Formats: sequence, C-alpha cells, structure tokens
Amino acid sequence: MSAQPEATATTDLLDVRDLVVELMTDNGIVRAVDGATFRVGRGETVTIIGESGSGKSTTAMGILQLLPKDLAVVSGTVKVTGLDVLKDRKAINKVRGRTVALIPQDPMTALSPVLSIGSQLTEAIRIASRSTSKSRATARAEELLASVHIPEPAAQLRKYPHQLSGGMLQRVLIAMALASEPQLLIADEPTSALDVTVQAGILDLLLEIQEQRGTGILMITHDIGVARLVSDTIHVMKNGRFVESGPAATIVDAPREEYTRKLLGAIPQLGPWDESPTQDTAVEPLPQEAHRD
Ligand SMILES: Nc1ncnc2c1ncn2[C@@H]1O[C@H](COP(=O)(O)OP(=O)(O)OP(=O)(O)O)[C@@H](O)[C@H]1O
Ligand SMILES: [Mg+2]
Repeated sequence: MSAQPEATATTDLLDVRDLVVELMTDNGIVRAVDGATFRVGRGETVTIIGESGSGKSTTAMGILQLLPKDLAVVSGTVKVTGLDVLKDRKAINKVRGRTVALIPQDPMTALSPVLSIGSQLTEAIRIASRSTSKSRATARAEELLASVHIPEPAAQLRKYPHQLSGGMLQRVLIAMALASEPQLLIADEPTSALDVTVQAGILDLLLEIQEQRGTGILMITHDIGVARLVSDTIHVMKNGRFVESGPAATIVDAPREEYTRKLLGAIPQLGPWDESPTQDTAVEPLPQEAHRD
C-alpha cells in the first residue's frame, strides 16, 4: 500500500512510551495499564505475557484505540511507523487495518455467522484497497487463503464459518489481517481457543509470514510456552506494569522475578532453550482440521 506510512530502517514499527489506560468504575478509577513502554521493530516478535487481568489486551486495544467505553488512554505516546496515533485522533484510521492489523483471540466468534467466508474476506480486501474490482478481490481472496495453507481455497470461499474448524477459521482471520499487507500484526491470544496441535500449526504460520514479509508481531499470551517459541523479546506484565523485560532466552532461562518463575512453573515440560524453535512445531495438521463436516 503506497499511501501507508513506511517504517524506515531507523523507525520502529511500534513505539509505545509510558502508556497509561484507566478504567472508570463505580468505586473510582483503576489503572489497567500503568506506564507500559516497549517497541517492536521490523521482523521482530515482541510478546507481552501475564496472568489473566494483568492488562495485556487493554494495552493492545489502547494502542489500536478499540477500548470499550469505560476504559480510556489517559497519557503516553504510541507511534505506529513513526506516526503519533494518540496525538492526532484521525491518525489511527490511517494505520488500523492497513499498516497494523489485529488477529483476534476467538476465531469462532470473530466472523459473522450469516456471511460466507468469501464475502467477509473480499470485503476486507476492498476496505484495504477500495479500487479493487469484485473479480480481482475474489482472486486475491483465493491467493490469501492459499498463503495461509488452506486447501481448495475457491471451495472454502463459498462456505460459512460454522462449516470450518477453529484452526481453519483462525487461518481465515490471519488471511483477513494480511489483506492490507500490514507491516505489524497484533495477535491477542491467537491460539488460546485452539487445540494444542492446531496451535502449533498457527504459530508456525505466523513465523512463516514474518520470515517471508518481515512483519513485526506484537504477541499477547498468558502461555510462556507460546512466548518462548515465538519471541525475540518478552515483557512480563502484572497489575498493569511490566515487572520484567528482556530477550526471550533470558526471561525463560534466568527469570529475575518470582512472578515470572510462577508463570514458568505453570508449564512443567520445558526443554532446553537451544532447540530449533520451529522444528517441533512444523506439524501441519491440515487434513484433520480442514473440514468439520
Ligand atoms: N470492559 C471492561 N470493563 C471492566 N473492566 C475491564 C474491562 N476490560 C478490562 N477490564 C479490567 O482491566 C484490567 C485488565 O484487563 P485485560 O483484559 O487487559 O487483562 P488481560 O491481561 O488481557 O487478561 P486475559 O488474559 O484474561 O485476557 C482487569 O482488571 C480487568 O478486569
Ligand atoms: Mg486479554
């Protein structure tokens, strides 16, 4: 997309400083995010990990300005490819669904049940590039489904969400996110609603997309196994704050904080760090997950 702001070699895809998000409750104001500072560079995966309620999704939704009414960003800066999206209220519309795309948590509810996969995907394509003709959008939809390894793309386009498995639906949502050729993907628990073998295939796909396109990924998870597999950098979040940040290997192998050790303790079967991150996960369980019916 030529009209999109491009990150230069020196500009981060995402640069967040001192982000504060507050929640208005009947009993007063609660800080859901309390001074988050982090960056995501081209081709990098940066993960925010933390227990439920620690503020991970609120951070992501604050960046994208998709917060529910009772939550508000009260201070901080958020730059997407150098564009300050908090300062200029219209700026987020230039980048959301274009430079930066969201992969939602629950593939089962993220799509409309009454519209075919094809009509939802071609709509995303035409939003990303309004001049695309209907026939070109259909051809592009098939290309996108093929790029996320969905077999028989033309036949899948005619189906409705309930006819696909959770893993296949998540692939469709990733294809939708890719419609605008985003430089940055924000993935909020993209695999937590899926079976373990299907999870591995989706994580592998995200890493493949990153390798091929240089996409930056902001990954949100409560699962340190996922974080360990995909991340360059991990930020550990607790009560709206980062309590520990660093290279993935350091956080996993030598955590400083008791809280991080507890998150690590939640998965008993960690192997040594030096194994290839994608080797064990290149399972492509397409035949089983391809068709629900
Ligand atoms: N719409 C909302 N209404 C009320 N409180 C909210 C809302 N969204 C978030 N919160 C509160 O904000 C805080 C952070 O929530 P958030 O959803 O960001 O956590 P999370 O780390 O994403 O958790 P999870 O792993 O369960 O998704 C929590 O205290 C939560 O209760
Ligand atoms: Mg969340």
